[in-house]
Amino acid sequence: MCDGSRCDVTRNAVLEAVLLTLRYAPCMDDLRYITEPKVLKHLLEQTRELNFSMASEPLVGSLLRSLAASKPGGRLLELGTGTGISAAWILDGMSDDATLVSVDNDAAVQDVARRALGNDRRLTVVTQDGTAFLKKQTAASFDFVFADAMPGKYEGTELALSLVKPGGIFVIDDMLPQPNWPEGHAAKVPVLIDLVAKDKRFETTPISWASGVVVAVRKLE
Ligand SMILES: C[S@@+](CC[C@H](N)C(=O)[O-])C[C@H]1O[C@@H](n2cnc3c(N)ncnc32)[C@H](O)[C@@H]1O
Repeated sequence: MCDGSRCDVTRNAVLEAVLLTLRYAPCMDDLRYITEPKVLKHLLEQTRELNFSMASEPLVGSLLRSLAASKPGGRLLELGTGTGISAAWILDGMSDDATLVSVDNDAAVQDVARRALGNDRRLTVVTQDGTAFLKKQTAASFDFVFADAMPGKYEGTELALSLVKPGGIFVIDDMLPQPNWPEGHAAKVPVLIDLVAKDKRFETTPISWASGVVVAVRKLE
């Protein structure tokens, strides 16, 4: 039974919340503004067939594409090709004269990317352990680094950060809880965010959105 003034207050609060949602939600329907790269449908089918559960989601893909577009003629690096979903978004944002190196140690999943994206002359697919790859690179040699594998993220973070040129961008995702996190992983996440956010060479923004993203831009020296 609802006949007292307390009930009216509650009802008004609920109504206000509903009205606020109706008023603001449509303009933040982010996915509505995002057009997927053409190759994505095929990649997603192949990814499902392989039962590969670690692919980037469209919101993160779109952010990666925008950031890649900010580096015309740039040298871009992705650690963790997976089946090539994030690589497809990155390539979609890159200029014709930019290049992307994508590294993974799992040849089977990476083969999906190789077959679907391998004709793109801007892309070099490397099958190698990420840490071994990082150790061979020159400091400040990439304009953009998307670290989406253990190496570059939870191992060899300093190595990966050192590869970013002044003005370049370092990105990590999956900072919010993910269903595929192994036991004990959750405790490592704030340590990683801390490490990047406290690095004085970078201007860093942790974004509690999509899978949880950190964008760090290396300042000029
Ligand atoms: C999160 S998935 C990458 C997903 C991909 N970036 C995407 O969004 O579609 C992480 C990838 O890291 C790779 N990986 C794990 N350990 C690695 C290592 N030591 N060296 C290189 N790649 C590694 C895995 O094989 C897996 O494909």
